[in-house]
Amino acid sequence: MTHLKVGLLTGGGDCPGLNAVIRGVVKGGIRNNWTVLGFRNGWKGLMNDDKIELVDNAVSGILHRGGTILGTSRTNPYKKRQDVEKIKAVMKSNALGALIAIGGEDTLGVAAKLYQEGLPIVGAPKTIDNDLNCTDFTFGFDTAVNIAMECIDRLHTTAESHNRVMVVELMGRHAGWIATYAGLAGGADVILIPERPIDVDRVCRMIHNRHKRGKLFSIIAVAEGATFKGADVVQESKLDQFGHVRLGGVGQILAEQIEKKTGYETRVTVLGHIQRGGSPTAFDRVLGTRFGIGALKLIEQKKFGYMVSLEGNKITSVPLSEATGALKLVSSEFLELCEYFE
Ligand code: F6P
Repeated sequence: MTHLKVGLLTGGGDCPGLNAVIRGVVKGGIRNNWTVLGFRNGWKGLMNDDKIELVDNAVSGILHRGGTILGTSRTNPYKKRQDVEKIKAVMKSNALGALIAIGGEDTLGVAAKLYQEGLPIVGAPKTIDNDLNCTDFTFGFDTAVNIAMECIDRLHTTAESHNRVMVVELMGRHAGWIATYAGLAGGADVILIPERPIDVDRVCRMIHNRHKRGKLFSIIAVAEGATFKGADVVQESKLDQFGHVRLGGVGQILAEQIEKKTGYETRVTVLGHIQRGGSPTAFDRVLGTRFGIGALKLIEQKKFGYMVSLEGNKITSVPLSEATGALKLVSSEFLELCEYFE
């Protein structure tokens, strides 16, 4: 295979499995006799030519490690035109024949725009939220769900011992995939997600109904992006570079309202970044590895402007513009499934 220099970066919130993708790209790159340059802290590293050559040793012993050895940030080069020009200049001065961007809707949205400006870019879909379109799963989601499920299991025993209502707030900014999967797997009694505004009276009715059936405790899983009449509950309203507020607090408000309306003692647990930290599951390690090698194959085929994706159990590819054009929300099939267990 002819020699090629490939750039690699990880952007947006970190996610278990990022190191598996990096390792896949580096090992596959070495096999092709390519040079792989890792840029630190997302688009910021590419703008500032902050890089490290990724040789075999650099990816030794990282498969099981959470986070990203390259670091990450929520830098948006499209905030300032000069930053886009800097990226073009750095790609040129390093003679990069291709760039692999590993990220979610924001990072890959930037990749789609840069591709339209003529840069040879491919993407790999990352996010614990699993809300990226055109892929059945993103890596990181399975790990987050398993952590959240274990926490719901643990909340059950203490809820039952004290006859309490336990509200558990999970991540999920626009889509409630983590709350849906972890809630179903952990047997939550009510699952509340951004796709359907919270009806507190309905939640209280369900808790009362459980009491009538002799179940004196309840577990309520709520995604941080779930809303009361469409209004986000925010921790901080300052916007990040992609225009997102910092969500958080919906669980607390919900717990207070439940306690006030039902009279049942209610507690709240916010899982937060615990869902994003630590070691990836086997599923995420394998998916990350497949995405890494898949991204290299896209470059071999000169299929720039594409993202690797999972369709069934097959690795395939989709245009970045389609993957980032809309979010993948929880489907009505899952909303209906959850209702069976309320
Ligand atoms: O995008 C993934 C995500 O985990 C969201 O669910 C959450 O709202 C956000 O990142 C939090 O990000 P941070 O606190 O790192 O800015």
